[in-house]
Formats: sequence, structure tokens, C-alpha cells
Amino acid sequence: MGLILIIKSRSITSRETQVMATLLLALNILSLVVAGIEAGESVTITLLDSAVAKGAVCLDGTPPAYAYSPGFGDGVDNWHVFLEGGGWCLDADDCLGRTRYPIGSSAKLMSEVKNGVISFGGMLDANSTLNPNFYNWHVVKIFYCDGSSFMSDVEAVDPKHNLTYRGARIYDAMMDELVRIGMGNAKNALLSGSSAGGLATILHCDKFQSLFHSTTKVKCISDSGFFVRGEHFIGADWRESFYSRVVSTHGLTNMLPTSCTSKFNPTLCLFPENLVPDIQTPLFLIESAFDSYQIGSNLYSPGDRSPRWVSCLQNLMFCNSTEIEIMKDFRFTFINTLKNTIANSSSRRGYYVHSCWRHTHIESPRGSICSLFVGHGLADKNIAEAVGDWYFDRSEFQEMDMVNNLPLNCTGDDQPTLLKKCMDYYIQH
Ligand SMILES: *[C@@H]1O[C@H](CO)[C@@H](O)[C@H](O)[C@H]1NC(C)=O
Ligand SMILES: *[C@@H]1O[C@H](CO)[C@@H](O)[C@H](O)[C@H]1NC(C)=O
Ligand SMILES: *[C@@H]1O[C@H](CO)[C@@H](O)[C@H](O)[C@H]1NC(C)=O
Ligand SMILES: *[C@@H]1O[C@H](CO)[C@@H](O)[C@H](O)[C@H]1NC(C)=O
Ligand SMILES: *[C@@H]1O[C@H](CO)[C@@H](O)[C@H](O)[C@H]1NC(C)=O
Repeated sequence: MGLILIIKSRSITSRETQVMATLLLALNILSLVVAGIEAGESVTITLLDSAVAKGAVCLDGTPPAYAYSPGFGDGVDNWHVFLEGGGWCLDADDCLGRTRYPIGSSAKLMSEVKNGVISFGGMLDANSTLNPNFYNWHVVKIFYCDGSSFMSDVEAVDPKHNLTYRGARIYDAMMDELVRIGMGNAKNALLSGSSAGGLATILHCDKFQSLFHSTTKVKCISDSGFFVRGEHFIGADWRESFYSRVVSTHGLTNMLPTSCTSKFNPTLCLFPENLVPDIQTPLFLIESAFDSYQIGSNLYSPGDRSPRWVSCLQNLMFCNSTEIEIMKDFRFTFINTLKNTIANSSSRRGYYVHSCWRHTHIESPRGSICSLFVGHGLADKNIAEAVGDWYFDRSEFQEMDMVNNLPLNCTGDDQPTLLKKCMDYYIQH
């Protein structure tokens, strides 16, 4: 379930074989994100050094990082804050493994990203044609380096591993900084995040709203953050034991929303189905009913994934009939959980639930601004258009693909061809 990124060149033990299987899935996800980042605007990464004095640091003690692209034109009063994802770490060794990668260390982030510059693509892009709803907003991407969906706040440093668990402090320090540079006066504000960042968005959404005046329009988008418990579905014990270890490693018992912990065991308060009903702020969910990460990582523990199953996850053509049934059953569980959650919610929710084999959307053209051209189109809208309609109250977007009960391969065209089709589409609309 977590992205366990450990590669060793010496003899491969069985634990490492398991890790490799996880790594393959992780790379799959990363390649999607990287694909989304090819085209787009260049933005410099900044380390928030002032956070260190507040103890708001990554797992390895380095300052947290963000990338900021200022708003312009009639977007100067609008702010979009995006929380990066990347799984969770479930114990100290797992978290220590992360400190060798950007997901646990800003030093590693800075050394791995060429010239300290990244690209903002998809719904973060400043291209007015491709991203008409949000192109001129202030855009801030907050990098993920705590392994707890920005929720941990443990005062003591783990002396044995020299690890700091401070994700919630990172979130707070970042918000302080953004308010300091002007976000507090926003007219429009949006908190979004993908994957573990999508879960972080759900967990922080109401707190985010409290940063603004009552006249500010504040909304949240959780992208691929609806990780279902699926109490009666394959792997329920594995999912719960994973989250219970995340809760204990990161000391989350008293950090999770009390609206949930007053009703459920803290472990269950990392499952959005138990969180979303109580959120007061408008929330939009972008999801695939065949979320490739949930199906790939949350049904079987790494040791229980057969090579057959792993090859089915890599190419759906290789799946046998049993495996296809498992995917159909996952969709059934996912859709029912989501529908019940929305039905039980205090306010109405927007959602876009397609059937492409995919995980995460916002940062990628394929996943958001051009999604119509790779097969995840609902109501003839790209995901980014649907979100724009919902954000600006042009419509209350609630669409779920109820036709396809099999996962679709939506790989589609190469990026330049896709962007061209997409440009033509926006020019005509
Ligand atoms: C522990 O991490 C801190 C950074 O938080 C570093 O300055 C220090 O040298 C590390 N200590 C050991 C013993 O590795
Ligand atoms: C937007 O992106 C397209 C496709 O990459 C490009 O042709 C166009 O010039 C860009 N427009 C702006 C305003 O940057
Ligand atoms: C399909 O593969 C799974 C392993 O993923 C195996 O348990 C199952 O028996 C196979 N089903 C058929 C019909 O071959
Ligand atoms: C989707 O199709 C492409 C091209 O045919 C293939 O390379 C890829 O493995 C497929 N992906 C999945 C998940 O089936
Ligand atoms: C949510 O709603 C469904 C019916 O839509 C109901 O069966 C379920 O018990 C409710 N769950 C909670 C936690 O209220």
C-alpha cells in the first residue's frame, strides 16, 4: 500500500521480491505523473527554511519544499494549493527508506530535480487555452515528505532512526507562509491533492476553509483520494492493519478529526467513507471506479501478489476471468461505498467517476484537461471542465460511469498528439 522504494543490487531476498512488485506499481504511478509534467510551465522549487524553527520538517529533518507560480490578470485574487501524494510509510524502517528519496527528504528532492525546476501541467498549467478555468491563479504545489498525508506531529525525534514525524506541522507552516504572502485575502481558494495528497485534502479541507474570510469562495478537490475500506471485500484485514500501523507510527490518534474519532476507532478515520460525511466545505471527488493503485496495492499485501496478478495489473489483456471478476467486484464495492458516503453527507458533493484504469489526474493533461481524448469523458466534459463548472457554480457536477463494468485501457495518444487534439477542442469551445 505504501510506496516502498528500496532497491538493492545484492542478492534478492523474498522481502525484496515483494518490494520490487510494489516498486513496479509505484513506477507505474510515477510514470503517469511524469507524463503529465512533460508539457507545462516551469516553476522553481523553494525550501521553506523558516519552517525549521517551528520543527516543521521532513522525515529526515530537512525543511519542507513548495513550488509557487504567482497569479496574474483577473486571477490575482485566486489561489490553488495542491498537495502532492506518494503513499504512506507504516513503520520506522519503511519511513527511513523514504529518506533516500524525495518523498522523505527535500535534500533528495533538490538533488533529483534538474536545476530545481519542475513543470506545472494539467490543472496547474498557466496555459489559457488548455486550462481556461484556473490558468491565471496563484498555484502552489506542496511537496510530500512526511509519509502521513500531512497529519503527524510527534514532538520527540525517533532517536534510533533519527526520524521526525511532523506532517501536520509542515501543512501549518506552509499555510502560514501562504497567508503571509497574500492568500488570506483571496476571493477564490481551492485546496486539492492527489492520492495520499487527496486523502490529505479530505483531512484538511475544513481547516483550510477557516483560513479565509466568510466571503471567500473556498472549495476542495480530492483526486484519487477515496481509498475504500471495503469491509467485506478481499484484503480488508490488510488495509486495516496497514492503516493501524500508519496511525501508530505517526502518532495520529489525537490528530485525526474528532468528528470521526468520536464515532470510530482511529484506524477507521483514515478511510474517507468515515470522514467525508462530516466535511462542511464543498468537496469534489475525482476517481476511477477501477483505481489502478487501490486494485494493485490494497487488495493483496506485497507477499500475497502472485506473478500472474502482477502481470494482469501491468496489462489488462493478460488478466484471467477470476481476476476480471475481482476487478468488477472492486468497482461494485467502490461505487456503493462512494454513493452511500455522498448520501450520508451533510452537504452535496460533486464527483466524476470514470472507468479507465488510472490513478491520479490533476497534474496530468491526460488525466484532467484532455481527459475526453483518452476515454475518460463523462457528460462530454473533460475532468478539468467538470471541476470548473462545479467550482464556479455553473452546475453541480455529479457523474459516474454506470455503463462500463470492465476496466478500460485509456493509454491513448502520445503527449504531443494529445495536446494538439485538446488545443483544437478548446479553440472550438
Ligand atoms: C539527525 O538528523 C539531523 C537533521 O534533522 C542531523 O542534523 C543530525 O546530524 C542527525 N544525527 C545523526 C546522529 O545522524
Ligand atoms: C498552450 O499549449 C499549446 C500546446 O502545447 C501551445 O501550442 C500554445 O501555444 C500554448 N498557449 C499559451 C498561451 O501558452
Ligand atoms: C487466475 O489467476 C489467479 C491468480 O491471480 C488464480 O488464482 C486463478 O485460479 C486463475 N483463474 C483461472 C480461471 O485460471
Ligand atoms: C494499455 O495498452 C497499451 C498499448 O496497447 C499497453 O502497452 C499497456 O500495457 C496497456 N495497459 C494496461 C494497464 O493494460
Ligand atoms: C449511509 O447511508 C446508507 C444508505 O444510503 C446506509 O445504509 C448506511 O448505514 C449509512 N452509513 C452511515 C455511517 O450513516
